[in-house]
Amino acid sequence: MTGVVPGEFPFQNTDIQRLDVFRIATPKMWLYKFLFCLYLVCNSIHYAAVSGEPTPPDADYYIGAVVEFPARTVNAAASTQQRLRQFGVLLESSAIRPDIVVFPEDVLNDHDTPIVVPAPSDDVITCNADDAHYNYIISRMSCYARSLGLYVLINVVEVHNCTQSQNVSDLVANCAIYNANVVFDRHGVVISRYRKYNLIGSEWLYFNYTSQPEEEAIFRTDFNVTFGHFTRMDLLYARPAQTLVQRGITDFLHPSKWQSELPFLTAVQLHQSWAFSNNVNLLVAGTNDPSRGRSGTGIYAGRYGVLIATMTSVEKQSKLHLSVIPKHNVSSEKVLKIFKPRQRNLKAQLNNNNQSVLERFTGVVVTRDNNIDLYVTQPLVDATQTSGPLQQQLCHNDLCCNFHIEMHANTLATASTVSYYYRLAAFHDMGTFLNTEPDELAVCAIFACTGDHLYTCGRIYEEGVQVVPRYIFDIIRISGNFTRQRPSLLAPTSVDNLLMPLPVDEFEWQLQAHSNFTLANLTLLQPRSDLLTFGIYGNYFLNDTIYDHHHQNDATTLSSTLLLILILLHLQVNL
Ligand SMILES: *[C@@H]1O[C@H](CO)[C@@H](O)[C@H](O)[C@H]1NC(C)=O
Ligand SMILES: *[C@@H]1O[C@H](CO)[C@@H](O)[C@H](O)[C@H]1NC(C)=O
Ligand SMILES: *[C@@H]1O[C@H](CO)[C@@H](O)[C@H](O)[C@H]1NC(C)=O
Ligand SMILES: *[C@@H]1O[C@H](CO)[C@@H](O)[C@H](O)[C@H]1NC(C)=O
Ligand SMILES: *[C@@H]1O[C@H](CO)[C@@H](O)[C@H](O)[C@H]1NC(C)=O
Ligand SMILES: *[C@@H]1O[C@H](CO)[C@@H](O)[C@H](O)[C@H]1NC(C)=O
Ligand SMILES: *[C@@H]1O[C@H](CO)[C@@H](O)[C@H](O)[C@H]1NC(C)=O
Ligand SMILES: *[C@@H]1O[C@H](CO)[C@@H](O)[C@H](O)[C@H]1NC(C)=O
Ligand SMILES: *[C@@H]1O[C@H](CO)[C@@H](O)[C@H](O)[C@H]1NC(C)=O
Ligand SMILES: *[C@@H]1O[C@H](CO)[C@@H](O)[C@H](O)[C@H]1NC(C)=O
Repeated sequence: MTGVVPGEFPFQNTDIQRLDVFRIATPKMWLYKFLFCLYLVCNSIHYAAVSGEPTPPDADYYIGAVVEFPARTVNAAASTQQRLRQFGVLLESSAIRPDIVVFPEDVLNDHDTPIVVPAPSDDVITCNADDAHYNYIISRMSCYARSLGLYVLINVVEVHNCTQSQNVSDLVANCAIYNANVVFDRHGVVISRYRKYNLIGSEWLYFNYTSQPEEEAIFRTDFNVTFGHFTRMDLLYARPAQTLVQRGITDFLHPSKWQSELPFLTAVQLHQSWAFSNNVNLLVAGTNDPSRGRSGTGIYAGRYGVLIATMTSVEKQSKLHLSVIPKHNVSSEKVLKIFKPRQRNLKAQLNNNNQSVLERFTGVVVTRDNNIDLYVTQPLVDATQTSGPLQQQLCHNDLCCNFHIEMHANTLATASTVSYYYRLAAFHDMGTFLNTEPDELAVCAIFACTGDHLYTCGRIYEEGVQVVPRYIFDIIRISGNFTRQRPSLLAPTSVDNLLMPLPVDEFEWQLQAHSNFTLANLTLLQPRSDLLTFGIYGNYFLNDTIYDHHHQNDATTLSSTLLLILILLHLQVNL
């Protein structure tokens, strides 16, 4: 085993800006490195990282990086060259060489400028290839991967070369177009090409999807980690994401341009929740377009929670974030000692030490999940005056949620201060996420509202409003009996006023399997006054139903539009 020093690894939870002092290009590099080693007790992990040696296969960590990048604004063809150069600058200015880097979704080209991507079976190094053979996105990225010696994942719009034609217009007219992830290895070879399986909205009109998502979405590395990768919506479906987890894949790469939605699907909240409940590593590279709700980049280490997480309100922000990532089977003691970063977010700590005015993040335009209008809900009773905890049961169909809440009043709140209201909620039925995609959901939760009525829930106060919490929650315990009739993913979900989930050591999560149902228990362990959502989110994956866009038998006779209409009709009937 490669040695790992006890104590904090210096690069965790940090980004490139703060590591500028170790920039390889500095003439004084050796001096810095010497001082650096003196300071930290030079050993192999540091040496490997700084000198750029690949992480050896027997190490119990690897170094991963995720890039946040602004959405395309001008037409794709005009900006692709410049964006590729920016990719290069981000990679080259990283003082520490990561083993693997993930770039976000849909930042290079669009469906008017698709490119041909070589098949992994071609086994070619496309670096410096003649432009007539490979598009320059593919050749340029291959060069970056080879010259820096790292694995790189990019997301592009791909046109399948199905006619042998050299003319891309011909291909576009005749062949399938995909939203595709392309992975290069350290030699610049395309080793994996995954074509997005779960599309959303108008993507069904423009894009085709792969028929073998699991087979395309796996690749191996020389540092002895096998990765799965998928894109955006895939995270909410059984195939390929959940299937790969079941096959034992423990590390996932995920380019995304996630549009945050309250109360349950803001970006970092969802990503921690998914990685936590599956207990896998998840590297998310997010496209920034905050005015459309899109942001959210991070690295999550399963049950150990967030290693890095960020959301930004800066439209043009591009940044490479780097972390040492524990391999899946590293003992928990080691992880806690070495890899576990300081989870406390200073601002969140401030919010909970001083309840006068909440620090809030309002820089991303968050959508409201209109599906919550169908939930069985009840306003949270002010239990601060009564003795004893608030106990409440809410049921919807076969799901019963039990709430146990202890809270006290915030003495700093007055009659004139603005505070969030809360509702307890239960739901088990067909619903939607992102207000378009049908799914069977089961939820037990408490969430924030800006008023007394349900329609004010899932909204936040505008920027500039001074919000003072009315209550401090000392304990919240939520449990529910979730049916086991269908495959599902039950996950704890939480988000605070900074649009960050609770650190994993601030809640307890238990699942108990019974013959007909799973009893899920979620308990808040630390007092919080700044919660927007706290609860259990159950996703019962749709399979082989009219709702599934991949329903093969009908796909030949039904257009996507018609399918959408059918879905909407069906939902209305269900209401
Ligand atoms: C690679 O990982 C597997 C377990 O995932 C382990 O059994 C094997 O020894 C590792 N290989 C090396 C070279 O360390
Ligand atoms: C499609 O494949 C053929 C045969 O490999 C090749 O000659 C042609 O250049 C390819 N077309 C494009 C646009 O890459
Ligand atoms: C490619 O094909 C399109 C339509 O078939 C045609 O208009 C165009 O001139 C062709 N371009 C080249 C370079 O052959
Ligand atoms: C790709 O999608 C388009 C539009 O939905 C469809 O007309 C076409 O048949 C699909 N092509 C393939 C190869 O699946
Ligand atoms: C982790 O270790 C357990 C035994 O301790 C082993 O059964 C399992 O296969 C390992 N998982 C991986 C991904 O190496
Ligand atoms: C709490 O925050 C307010 C406003 O930011 C400040 O005026 C006050 O001094 C703080 N109180 C404590 C105890 O830190
Ligand atoms: C959950 O509990 C309620 C009330 O005890 C019961 O009616 C319901 O059938 C249970 N649901 C499941 C899935 O077991
Ligand atoms: C539990 O499952 C068994 C067998 O499937 C069934 O007979 C029984 O009615 C179920 N109980 C409840 C409470 O749903
Ligand atoms: C889960 O919650 C239920 C109801 O609140 C409680 O009876 C049960 O003991 C809890 N289970 C665990 C494992 O904490
Ligand atoms: C979907 O249904 C098919 C057969 O109907 C089954 O073989 C498959 O396992 C199901 N997949 C999931 C994820 O439930």
